[in-house]
Amino acid sequence: MSEPTLYERLGGEEKIRKIATTLFDTHAKNPIISARYVNSDRDKVIQLVFEFLCNATGGPQNYTGRDMLTVHRGMNISEQEFMAVLDDILVALQAHGVGQREQEELLLANFNLRGDIVRV
Ligand code: HEM
Repeated sequence: MSEPTLYERLGGEEKIRKIATTLFDTHAKNPIISARYVNSDRDKVIQLVFEFLCNATGGPQNYTGRDMLTVHRGMNISEQEFMAVLDDILVALQAHGVGQREQEELLLANFNLRGDIVRV
């Protein structure tokens, strides 16, 4: 028997959709980054982040968005903004009762995207 994937341990499609929704709404209330999302199509961004998280954690979903470097290039995103997004990820995971080990794994996976997102 193989180990369950992070996707499975997070709670699969239903849970990850809820996490992506809470994440967007937490960003929209976070004073460090909220201005970045004022013109966003909430449902569209939630859907793309949902797909991204599923795909990155071993789920069967295809990610239909652009790669991280292409999306964030030219936005001049600071270290502080990047940390604010990581903070919000933890808030969303804890709001949905995700386990400590799974929080740490997802946080590290996202932290590792830093080079494609900060000041690119
Ligand atoms: C690990 C960190 C991050 C991940 C996984 C991530 C992921 C994504 C994804 C999947 C999209 C949609 C892609 C598309 O439109 O094709 C997106 C869009 C976006 N991201 Fe990020 N992102 C991260 C960090 C950040 C940071 C630090 C900021 C700055 C505050 C930021 C600002 C944005 C904005 C403004 C959009 C466009 C929203 C829109 O289309 O209205 N992201 N991000």
